[in-house]
Amino acid sequence: MAHPAAPAAIDPAAVPQRKLFTGATMPAIGLGTFGSDHVSADQIAEAVKGAAAIGYRHFDCASVYGNEAEIGASFEAILQGGIKREDLWITSKLWNDKHGEDDVIASCRQSLADLRLEYLDLYLVHWPFPNFHPPGCDATSRSPGARPYLHENFMKTWRKMEELVDRGLVRHIGTSNMTIPKLKLLLRDARIRPAVNEMELHPHFQQPELFRFVVENGIQPVGYCPIGSPARPDRDRTPEDTVPTEDPVIVEIAQRRGMHPAAVCIKWAVQRGQTPIPFSVHHYGENLAAAIGEPLTGEEMRAIAGIDRNCRFIKGQVFLWKDGQSWEDLWDLNGEITQ
Ligand SMILES: NC(=O)c1ccc[n+]([C@@H]2O[C@H](COP(=O)([O-])OP(=O)(O)OC[C@H]3O[C@@H](n4cnc5c(N)ncnc54)[C@H](OP(=O)(O)O)[C@@H]3O)[C@@H](O)[C@H]2O)c1
Repeated sequence: MAHPAAPAAIDPAAVPQRKLFTGATMPAIGLGTFGSDHVSADQIAEAVKGAAAIGYRHFDCASVYGNEAEIGASFEAILQGGIKREDLWITSKLWNDKHGEDDVIASCRQSLADLRLEYLDLYLVHWPFPNFHPPGCDATSRSPGARPYLHENFMKTWRKMEELVDRGLVRHIGTSNMTIPKLKLLLRDARIRPAVNEMELHPHFQQPELFRFVVENGIQPVGYCPIGSPARPDRDRTPEDTVPTEDPVIVEIAQRRGMHPAAVCIKWAVQRGQTPIPFSVHHYGENLAAAIGEPLTGEEMRAIAGIDRNCRFIKGQVFLWKDGQSWEDLWDLNGEITQ
């Protein structure tokens, strides 16, 4: 008999799917696996198994999260338990110190070995900058050789990403933390286009322009920090940051519907058309349940559209390359790539 506290299982067929430009489908909610420097790899690997048992089929991994080996053991158990590989959607990401032409394929192979997989459904360039920062660092950490975005260099990395598709090691490639001007150049020059752009998306940071741009260009938006990342590391906190789950509009909808404000954020995300990847070791059942079931009304969706605060949490200070720069330089706010 199931443990009384175990979340109810959901038929994966009931979860909405996103169609990628290749015709492949990706579940419209995934489980994030970054423990924000404080949840252990073993706890996260347990959550991955628990989430698969109740119907999650999409998992957002990355080498820099430092837990792919533990999660790999969970994937092995999940597959041995009878879930088919083709029914899972597994993402991993190339970290910033591996953009070199000789590093991309080796790094992907390492993730595949750690995750105990023969292929990935999606492999992302985690950040468009090759600027390394060590796990657990604070916001003042800078990579000594830090550089701005250099398109020529990025394309060298991208050619290797394309080769991963040619070699059958990954089914799709994509980007993360990109801006419109950077994506325009990539779309101009790519032989294999990005299938996904992973970006921060929650009710207080809706990025309407970038969202529209990626959708219009056939790129699926995957939304990170969908709940507002309440447990994010100190380096990603500033005094101006807001809390989406405390917004009166979200709280009011949650109260009316008898659900947690986090669940409202997930419902909004799925209905708006992005794919949220909430991290959770305690609430993943509620989040999957929120992705299906009764939708928000048009009025509720409009009310949430009206509370965007343009409040970015993951500002990326550690990627800056010049003294005296501010984090806005990473995000090309005036429409041009900052050098
Ligand atoms: N591409 C990138 O550069 C990038 C950057 C940041 C994040 N990501 C990805 O996005 C994922 C999600 O982002 P995130 O982890 O920063 O933030 P998040 O998903 O917005 O927030 C996760 C936090 O919310 C809590 N939570 C989750 N569901 C809840 C619920 N229903 N009720 C109450 N609390 C709930 C979790 O606690 P419990 O564990 O206790 O449930 C956890 O502390 C990451 O894990 C990672 O995979 C990618």
